[in-house]
Amino acid sequence: MIIICQKCMTRFHLDDDATDKSTFVARCTVCGHLFSAYKPNRVQEITFLDLEKARQDETNDQVIAISNRKGGVAKTTTCLNLGLSLALLKKRVLLVDFDAQANLTLSLGQKEAPTFYDAQKKIGKRLDDFIVATKYSDLWLLPSGRNMVLLNKMYFGARNFEYMLKDRLNTVKEQFDFILIDTPPSIEFYTLNALTASNRVLIPCQCDYLSTHGVDQVLRLIKLIREKSNPQIQSRILFTMLDRDSHASRLILRKIQALYQGQTFDTVIEMDGVLKEAQILNMPAIQYSQKSVAGTQYIELAKEVIAIAEASVPPLP
Ligand SMILES: Nc1ncnc2c1ncn2[C@@H]1O[C@H](COP(=O)(O)OP(=O)(O)O)[C@@H](O)[C@H]1O
Ligand SMILES: [Mg+2]
Repeated sequence: MIIICQKCMTRFHLDDDATDKSTFVARCTVCGHLFSAYKPNRVQEITFLDLEKARQDETNDQVIAISNRKGGVAKTTTCLNLGLSLALLKKRVLLVDFDAQANLTLSLGQKEAPTFYDAQKKIGKRLDDFIVATKYSDLWLLPSGRNMVLLNKMYFGARNFEYMLKDRLNTVKEQFDFILIDTPPSIEFYTLNALTASNRVLIPCQCDYLSTHGVDQVLRLIKLIREKSNPQIQSRILFTMLDRDSHASRLILRKIQALYQGQTFDTVIEMDGVLKEAQILNMPAIQYSQKSVAGTQYIELAKEVIAIAEASVPPLP
């Protein structure tokens, strides 16, 4: 069988007995790129690595999926505002809109840009060609659009379909400090791909009691993915839309903080009307108003995300 390095597109022929694993990690001997491969038959020029080595190589990755089984909990809002906040703190950030509703793409004023689906249709083309600059420095977007629903169909029944996004992002991730992936509420093709591609999951949870069901469902899925395909994946819950003036809202926050003790961000995002105004103008909150409470809290969240990332980098040998 032939496998293709997704970065430099070199084709390799593989021997039948090269490995007995159905999924393995290979390093391209031409460009040095690491990529997942499946069911090889013959080997000529591939260096095989065991998964343990691949894991060590990937511990520095900062690919963060933003996911919750529930809609309307501020997934897209968090992706946009956290993304811009990281960029304002001088990090190079790629936002991946992996929701066919394309709210993130629209929020950044991109309407007709080619999408990730177009990128997959033109497999010979580099993913870089589909990444667009936003009007904010250090912030880039891999857009979504109506044709993204066809991705699911394109890969229907394909073996290891959940590695599709990971393999493509591997070709560009060295260019960015953080990659944030916005996901739809449903847990299927898109979310599975996003979680497989990520080493961290940020789970926005609205400060109401029913939201914990959506969080539990994502946590169960993450556990499954950790066991099956992505052993290093970690998750943290972000409480959003807290109404500080409401006694009930504060009470619920305390209860759910206790429920998920040790698994939450210190930063909490409050309900903020400015954020809605900013949304009408397709702007991140802090860009619309320096005084935005939620905007300022997203900057604090970005600092927390950076601190977590820096704490996880292993010391140099
Ligand atoms: N902190 C907040 N304060 C006020 N409104 C918010 C806040 N966060 C999100 N919203 C609003 O809630 C709605 C749903 O947010 P969105 O990010 O689209 O959720 P999701 O992507 O999870 O479906 C949007 O109208 C958004 O403007
Ligand atoms: Mg959304």
